[in-house]
Amino acid sequence: ASFHEPYRPQFHFSPTKNWMNDPNGLLYHDGTYHLFFQHNPYGIQDGNISWGHATSHDLMHWEHQPIALLARGYPQNVTEMIFTGSAVADTNNTSGLGVDGKIPLIAIYTSAYQYAQDLPSGKSVKANQQSQSLAYSLDDGKTWSYYDALNPIIETPAAPYEDQWQNFRDPFAFWHDETQKWILVTALSDIHKLMIWTSDNLIDWTVASEFGPVNAVGGVWECPNLFPLPFKADKTGSKWVLVVGLNPGGPPGTVGSGTQYFIGDFNGTAFVPDADSAYPGNETANWMDWGPDWYAATAWNGLPEDDHVQLGWMNNWQYGSKIPTNPWRGAMAFPRHLSLKQDGEKAILLQWPHQNITELRGKERFRRSWSSLRNGVQDLGPQERLLDIELAFADQGKTTSGTSEAGIIVRATSDLKTQTRIGYDFDKKLMFVDRTKSGITDIDKTFPTIYHAPLTPDEHGIIKLRILLDWAGVEVFGGEGESTLTAQIFPFANATHVQVFSKDGSTDDVSLKISELTSIWS
Ligand code: FRU
Repeated sequence: ASFHEPYRPQFHFSPTKNWMNDPNGLLYHDGTYHLFFQHNPYGIQDGNISWGHATSHDLMHWEHQPIALLARGYPQNVTEMIFTGSAVADTNNTSGLGVDGKIPLIAIYTSAYQYAQDLPSGKSVKANQQSQSLAYSLDDGKTWSYYDALNPIIETPAAPYEDQWQNFRDPFAFWHDETQKWILVTALSDIHKLMIWTSDNLIDWTVASEFGPVNAVGGVWECPNLFPLPFKADKTGSKWVLVVGLNPGGPPGTVGSGTQYFIGDFNGTAFVPDADSAYPGNETANWMDWGPDWYAATAWNGLPEDDHVQLGWMNNWQYGSKIPTNPWRGAMAFPRHLSLKQDGEKAILLQWPHQNITELRGKERFRRSWSSLRNGVQDLGPQERLLDIELAFADQGKTTSGTSEAGIIVRATSDLKTQTRIGYDFDKKLMFVDRTKSGITDIDKTFPTIYHAPLTPDEHGIIKLRILLDWAGVEVFGGEGESTLTAQIFPFANATHVQVFSKDGSTDDVSLKISELTSIWS
């Protein structure tokens, strides 16, 4: 593949060819970042789900690797698909699967059984059963063996939820230092519950607690993630973040997939959300990204607590199978560094593009400030199509000037017939991405939409927007990253203009810096 096909993301990961959804088994081991992903080795549609594999030394440039975990029975008769899961390095060989001092890498994933079958372990499973299984690697992740002697290691949810065997998935495993135990979080998708398990050896798991339903409970719960982040105000010096995917049931104004989080405490057995992170009545939620295209996020195991990197799938089950790309379908969002900011007692989650983005920095294309940006649209002319944009301006408030919005338009034609509009609504205190005229929008009736995310000005009354523009999407980080919004776009080739705007009046103290980003594919 040339990796320069139309709409091929140039600084986001995508597979060489064929279908991709969730990131899986993210593991930093021995100087290498491993990325596994839900993948159809055969076609551009969902199916034959296996784990694809790629590696990186900087989270920016990726080397595609052979399929790590192939659907069982592929290609003639797929009996078991390898759904989402996680990976750890079993440094102390607690599993006993290490041989000759070699550290085993352990993947725990969901077996999605296509038929009723009797397995090599002697266990019998039903058609459409989802169970948790184990695979291991003794060559640092290059090749993997299914642990057929015992799989599945968790056949069904624990009592009293055994009847949830059809939607029991997405195990997220990690090592918990304080209790010296392995922890596993699984979803009981239909009943909006998570089950937290503990183990000494990654093989035998005991239920420790359950969580949910809390906050958003649309659709099903999937892809849970649990991790600590440094937080000084807390006795233990950290707080825990629990991430849960919903499909459908994403943020207000979106249709399809979305991701919520809770901030709280975890003692090795139970997660307890902070009072200001869980709301009665399931009416509100903390959304990790307010756009339509950020889902199934998970984090790298094997990194220090203050180097927490989260990766989302930049797509949506609502229309994911219809996006106009070929010969691949699906990309990952840009890796995000997560941290907590202290606001009194409250912890606020911040997300920011991973610092290694500096490796992709090309020329600075544009730097300009306006003490007052006049009412209307100003064309800055054609620009490169891979951009890192930093835009800041003074909050115009509600009544002072009458100015209703300010922002930037990307991938536009000079006549604005094609455009993606990114800005801030001063009255409603919302940042937005408008992709209604972004190019190819007819892939789904819900695609041409304006998306909104809450954002308040900083202590100096400044609104800040950081925008990453790739060939097929925009990611917007508001403020210090307290609000994010990711949306795919499929602009026409001639739409390369960037324009700034101020609506219904002028906007003060505007500064704009635009840098080129370079392609990760050589
Ligand atoms: C989320 C998801 C997971 C499942 C996987 C299957 O996008 O539905 O719950 O394990 O995709 O590919």
